[in-house]
Amino acid sequence: MSEFPLHKVPASFSDAHINAEMYREMYRRSIDEPDAFWAEQAEKFLTWDKPWDTVVEADFLQGKAEWFAGGKLNASVNCIDRHLPQCADQTAFIWEGDDPADSKHITYAELKDSVCKLANVLRERGVKKGDRVCIYMPMIPEAAYAMLACARIGAIHSVVFGGFSPEALKDRILDSDCQVVITADQGLRGGKKVPLKANADAALEHCPDVHTCVVVQRTGGDIDWQDGRDVWYHEATAAASADCEPESMDAEDPLFILYTSGSTGKPKGVLHTTGGYLLQAAMTFKYVFDYREGEVYWCTADVGWVTGHSYIVYGPLANGAISLMFEGVPTYPDAGRCWEVVDKHQVATFYTAPTAIRALHAVGDEPVTRSSRASLRLLGTVGEPINPEAWEWYYQTVGESRCPIVDTWWQTETGAHMITPLPGATDLKPGSASFPMFGVNLALLNEDGSEIEGPGAGYLVVKSPWPSQIRTVYGDHQRLIDTYFSTYPGYYFTGDGASRDEDGYYWITGRVDDVLNVSGHRMGTAEVESALVLHDKIAEAAVVGFPHDIKGQGIYCYVTPMDGVEPSEELRKELIALCVKEIGPIAKPDVIQWAPGLPKTRSGKIMRRILRKIAENELQNLGDTSTLADPSVVDNLIENRAS
Ligand code: WTA
Repeated sequence: MSEFPLHKVPASFSDAHINAEMYREMYRRSIDEPDAFWAEQAEKFLTWDKPWDTVVEADFLQGKAEWFAGGKLNASVNCIDRHLPQCADQTAFIWEGDDPADSKHITYAELKDSVCKLANVLRERGVKKGDRVCIYMPMIPEAAYAMLACARIGAIHSVVFGGFSPEALKDRILDSDCQVVITADQGLRGGKKVPLKANADAALEHCPDVHTCVVVQRTGGDIDWQDGRDVWYHEATAAASADCEPESMDAEDPLFILYTSGSTGKPKGVLHTTGGYLLQAAMTFKYVFDYREGEVYWCTADVGWVTGHSYIVYGPLANGAISLMFEGVPTYPDAGRCWEVVDKHQVATFYTAPTAIRALHAVGDEPVTRSSRASLRLLGTVGEPINPEAWEWYYQTVGESRCPIVDTWWQTETGAHMITPLPGATDLKPGSASFPMFGVNLALLNEDGSEIEGPGAGYLVVKSPWPSQIRTVYGDHQRLIDTYFSTYPGYYFTGDGASRDEDGYYWITGRVDDVLNVSGHRMGTAEVESALVLHDKIAEAAVVGFPHDIKGQGIYCYVTPMDGVEPSEELRKELIALCVKEIGPIAKPDVIQWAPGLPKTRSGKIMRRILRKIAENELQNLGDTSTLADPSVVDNLIENRAS
């Protein structure tokens, strides 16, 4: 499958939490005796107010799963309070600011005070168990305080990535009926200010039910203020008590909603619950990163994505770990920043996205090799397939062929790692996410839904429930069933294609649906299309992905202007601006091609397969075009292909 060599488990991991034999035995048990396996893990990793009655009850046909029903616990207590007797003065977060001169340590005791104060502020403003709170924040510790403050009082947080536009923010606030928003005056990334409060103000014009907007002062920049609604974080928390009685939650009470893109319609509010989610985030954190007490662990994701939820906040804190949170970007002030931070804070584990690795690789070795990186023990990647060349550079140049790489495959919907090497157990094949994690029962299906035995390629599905699985799409359970549990009844459909080699290693090939993965950010082609056709000069649009050296996938848009409208550079710019306005800078199209017509079947369905091939410049390989209503459309698109 790959000409790249196998990398054996290094001797330095011979005393890892999980070795190869333990992996095999624990995996077998987790599949054969899931109740016993997960009950043990739940006792080991979490502190419960009350034990559960049943471990799991699930029905994939209904998209239903209940884990640890009857059990009670609080996520913030599990992430903070229970560590205090031994670890009050230990660092919970190291915060590294955008400016290299700016960093601080936050201990578990300080974390508890900050979380409780904010929780009390929210309670005073009327937030109760089950209420939704929107968090629209830069990468500052207050983002984590806000999540944990919600968890403490049983409110459901909905973190919206700080790079989303006011439009996107508004849609998410309204969809889950958030009545409180927590934001900052401005964010700071790569030396540039991000107008978060101004964006929130614009969104809130359309959200009359939001009664409170808590504002963290990050830059001190000028902002507008609405008396009564807007509250300064520093003023409100200064007056609040540092003790806050936690709400004892049912294991199945919601912990958070996180919006993610699908192949159709608007983003879905993926809902995760308390017990199962926290358990699997905690367990995978410890085993996949082979976490050792006192080590510094750094995940470069944003808390606006699931990786930030599970592997900056909940997983690390549930293990009493030291989690580094970085406000900036890997290339500011220059491409050596990550490795400077590794040396500065003696980082042992570095977990990032392939797009960042490719971008840093492109700059060359010097920014890496001028640092020591002696503290590094383990590397990780997440978010998209990693090409073996980038993997090898990461392994050899960054990790000096000494640090294993855990290539972790999972999704917002899965809540935690699903397929991943374990550094003390798995010989690594560059580009393969390798084996399923404990309790993850995988299959590859043929088009007709039959299971592939042994080596082969097909649709990646999960055969049985796992604790951190998505519970519902907020407000639309039918959409959960339709999206994940109907394509192949009895299975959870991931939307990804994968192959399995003769050694049982899984190789993820990417999405098989109309979901793009641009720099690790998930985006529905339908979302970009809807933005484009909002322009009154545009009749129709079709969006596909194409291979991009750094971003993994770029956004290629075929756009049909209204009759009589002449395409122009100005119109192109307006369309790009429209995508940025509607979704955010991550949705900026890479290519806009004017298309007098789109290839459609006689029943009017756009044949995206052909559009993808043209975007990829695979013109020899267009496949059957005979079913098109007007095959000449394709010739025109090829002739005018944007390069
Ligand atoms: C892709 C991110 C290959 C995949 C945690 C999945 C990956 C989607 C990997 C989920 C990986 C994630 N190798 N592909 N290691 N990790 N993906 O919801 O297509 O933002 O379906 O969750 O990213 O993206 P999401």
